[in-house]
Amino acid sequence: MRSLFTIMMLSMASVSAQGGTSAQQGASIALPEPKRTGEVSIEATLDRRRSVRSYDSAALSLQEIAQLAWAAQGVTEPQDGLRTAPSAGATFPLEIDLLVAGSDDLEDGVYRYLPREHSLVQRLAGDRRRDLHAAGLAQAAILEAPVVMVMSGVVSRTARRYGPRAERYVHMEAGHAAQNVYLQGNAMGVGTVVIGAFRDEAVSMALRLNPGEQPLYLMPLGKLR
Ligand SMILES: Cc1cc2nc3c(=O)[nH]c(=O)nc-3n(C[C@H](O)[C@H](O)[C@H](O)COP(=O)(O)O)c2cc1C
Repeated sequence: MRSLFTIMMLSMASVSAQGGTSAQQGASIALPEPKRTGEVSIEATLDRRRSVRSYDSAALSLQEIAQLAWAAQGVTEPQDGLRTAPSAGATFPLEIDLLVAGSDDLEDGVYRYLPREHSLVQRLAGDRRRDLHAAGLAQAAILEAPVVMVMSGVVSRTARRYGPRAERYVHMEAGHAAQNVYLQGNAMGVGTVVIGAFRDEAVSMALRLNPGEQPLYLMPLGKLR
């Protein structure tokens, strides 16, 4: 399956604040285009949205992972890089990592979503869910889910423009992006829950987050039973 998608090696790729992080290493994986229309109404997803903490054992496909990453932070207006979620002053402080395990399309590992490119960069290899599970106060959903989205915020990006108000703005943005993922997941039969109860340091260690990246939400993702 992977051969269906463009894979190119990036060596120490350095991506601007608008699209990702610095000093990443690994294969860049172009994602399938997200769907921009669907069969389910926004009203139905709002009506049905619930936090889901137990999932079917089936893996998520690359198409599904791509759709969920796009819902969180996909670029919908390429000229200015505007996204599916609003951003204070378009400063784009959020970073999206995906812990993937047991996928047919991706090696087990941790991948960073690059919104501008709509691609993933592998940052870590191996199934990292046990470390994240421990960091997440042993919440079972983290171990059970085939994919865990980790949303982090880089406050300094927003603080350059908004000073001390930036921290609250970044937290608000995480809420917008997370709700997008809830609703998108609901429309495609994928459940999730926002997890805010975790040990910050341990999550940062498990994902080898870069300095300044503050973990805000863990979102296990798995098919509804
Ligand atoms: C900021 C925040 C943090 C949360 N942290 C957790 C968490 O650590 N673990 C968990 O299982 N649910 C967590 N939740 C989900 C809530 O428990 C859930 O939204 C609530 O029970 C209402 O259920 P619903 O989402 O199905 O409407 C959190 C929700 C929010 C908004």
